[in-house]
Amino acid sequence: MIRHFLRDDDLTPAEQAAVLDLAARMKVDRYAHQPLAGPRSVAVLFDKKSLRTRISFDAGIAELGGHPLVVDTQVTHFGRGESLGDAGRVLSRYVAAIVLRTYGDDRIAEVAEHATVPVVNALTDTYHPCQLLADLLTVRERFGATAGRILAYVGDAANNLAHSYLLAGATAGMHVRVAGPVGFAPDPAIVARAAKIAAGTGGSVEALTDPVEAVRGAHVVATDTWTSMGQEDDGLDRITPFLPYQVGDALLAHAAADVIVLHCLPAHRGEEITGEVLDGPRSAVFDQAENRLHAQKALLTFLLEASA
Ligand code: CP
Ligand code: NVA
Repeated sequence: MIRHFLRDDDLTPAEQAAVLDLAARMKVDRYAHQPLAGPRSVAVLFDKKSLRTRISFDAGIAELGGHPLVVDTQVTHFGRGESLGDAGRVLSRYVAAIVLRTYGDDRIAEVAEHATVPVVNALTDTYHPCQLLADLLTVRERFGATAGRILAYVGDAANNLAHSYLLAGATAGMHVRVAGPVGFAPDPAIVARAAKIAAGTGGSVEALTDPVEAVRGAHVVATDTWTSMGQEDDGLDRITPFLPYQVGDALLAHAAADVIVLHCLPAHRGEEITGEVLDGPRSAVFDQAENRLHAQKALLTFLLEASA
């Protein structure tokens, strides 16, 4: 069976732990694993902009012995109405895996339905699961484990990062609290799915509106832009209702003494996070950004082996 990674809970708790274990080993010895030797190619396709995802997949595929094909879909038929199912079938004849950043989850689902190689979600409107593998690796490095730790995500709780924190955090046995203004709450179906996962891992999930309640005693405080890609012209006020959710000294005063701060980047200093916090001693964001590389290498290795 072909294994895809379209959303965080496509990995079981044991599989997620195995991927993170492998990522930690790959970080220590970057060139020891060559599952793409040949080289076998991986297509990395972008309907939306990227810096970290683009470069970390490009470098990571090369480090695995493979050949990265990084393509902006605007220059392909993919971007002008070619059937996504046909594209998935055709690309499967050329490459060992397909990585896609796009808008609606229906788009990546259609590629995956017809692909005969693993398909990886490199961010959609609803999920950013590769980011979460990097975040969990960073939490492990800082705290030794994920299980039992409190993770608070504050800001736009209706966005892709919020949904991925709920699902991936629950899978990792964390106590996940997401908090956003009224009107920016996570999809209730995803909260329910995460709660079900948490019931089996010893974690928990809560969707809140009070940022102080969310952050109280938290070991990890995470945030993200208040305006995600594709929302620039949605007509909503994406500043005023979010101001109480800014990750700064005032909010962090309620967190655990040894709190770490995560942000997937790109950041807007002075909006969702202060410059003092992003550049200060509690920030783990640059380790987090580096860990995209190691986590995605481990993920690709896992999916290729599991699909063989
Ligand atoms: N965090 C993240 O996905 O960054 P990019 O949008 O630059 O890839
Ligand atoms: N929520 C943001 C994440 C960017 C990495 C977006 O979708 O634009």
